[in-house]
Amino acid sequence: MKHILVTGGAGYIGSHATLRLLELDHKITVVDDLSNGWQSAIDALSKVGDLTFIECRCGDYDKMMDLMSDHQIDLVMHFAAFAAVNESVKEPLMYYENNTGNSLSLLRAMMDSGVNNMVFSSTCATYGLPTPDQMPLTEDCPQKPISPYGWSKLWFEQALSQCTKANPSFACTALRYFNVAGCDPQGRVGEHHIPETHLIPICLEVAKGKRDDIKIFGSDYDTPDGTCIRDYVHVDDLIAAHLLAMKHLEPGVMQTFNVGIGRGYSVMEVIESCRRVTGHAIPAVSHERRQGDPDMLYNDPSKIQKAFNWKPKYEELDAIVATAWHEMNL
Ligand SMILES: NC(=O)c1ccc[n+]([C@@H]2O[C@H](COP(=O)([O-])OP(=O)(O)OC[C@H]3O[C@@H](n4cnc5c(N)ncnc54)[C@H](O)[C@@H]3O)[C@@H](O)[C@H]2O)c1
Repeated sequence: MKHILVTGGAGYIGSHATLRLLELDHKITVVDDLSNGWQSAIDALSKVGDLTFIECRCGDYDKMMDLMSDHQIDLVMHFAAFAAVNESVKEPLMYYENNTGNSLSLLRAMMDSGVNNMVFSSTCATYGLPTPDQMPLTEDCPQKPISPYGWSKLWFEQALSQCTKANPSFACTALRYFNVAGCDPQGRVGEHHIPETHLIPICLEVAKGKRDDIKIFGSDYDTPDGTCIRDYVHVDDLIAAHLLAMKHLEPGVMQTFNVGIGRGYSVMEVIESCRRVTGHAIPAVSHERRQGDPDMLYNDPSKIQKAFNWKPKYEELDAIVATAWHEMNL
């Protein structure tokens, strides 16, 4: 049993990680400022196991020092961040302050209190706009973000890499997620963002009658059906990767892995999957392209498969969508 600090544990991915860690009998402290998180997720998680919730910023150095000095924290899973690419273009400073600044203060508190293990949520947005011949994306693809969000994450990756080199006791793994989707199959926690920017929950909101239609941004991409292709990884498979990363941390080493299933689905294929799973028509409306959307973005999972023997359980889109639809209907 380990005592794990989960930052952002009231949000989508952090709540799924907390759920799984509690099921494995770890002691969990969640730090979340509820800027985008949910008290209802904390309430649901409290029924599962030994959970303490502290409502504050993970970058509050004094509070993090108190927490880490008063308790033997074995590891930090760092999910807390702002994660909307378009918002980051409008409010870059907000992203650097939160995703880089608060993360650096958290790291400082870890270093000052001797908490030496971190698994960090990074993103394929750190790769920017890879060319089609770079697909599928490997971890050594150049990192040239095109959004403040991507940069705010990459800067923290850089800090982690350099601090790990300078501190042989510190161990860290950055997981660069592709598009995370789906929910706990039992629906105890779910995916809730305001505003929602992710394709699958938006389609499901149309199916529920909460929106009129789904907007397709660009139908003239260089893909078989003209819509963008992305790699969708189920949140439970992503959390399985975190558990493996936690087990394989190496002092003095920063490891990085992409986490995506290794095949892409187009926007149109996602909409069709949502139609099949929900039995609703889900009207779709064509719009202009958005700036900075590459034709395709999908992962080469061989590094994480070789290192951790990680294999996703969910490879079919309908199975991923079904878990999200189930949660939405509870
Ligand atoms: N959802 C995806 O598809 C995706 C893809 C790539 C990477 N990521 C990364 O995964 C992580 C989690 O994403 P998510 O989709 O669960 O987002 P989310 O918004 O649902 O969850 C983030 C949580 O962090 C909290 N938070 C934000 N800043 C905080 C701070 N300074 N201190 C304390 N709490 C804070 C929010 O209240 C929220 O509960 C993020 O780091 C994101 O960059 C997500």
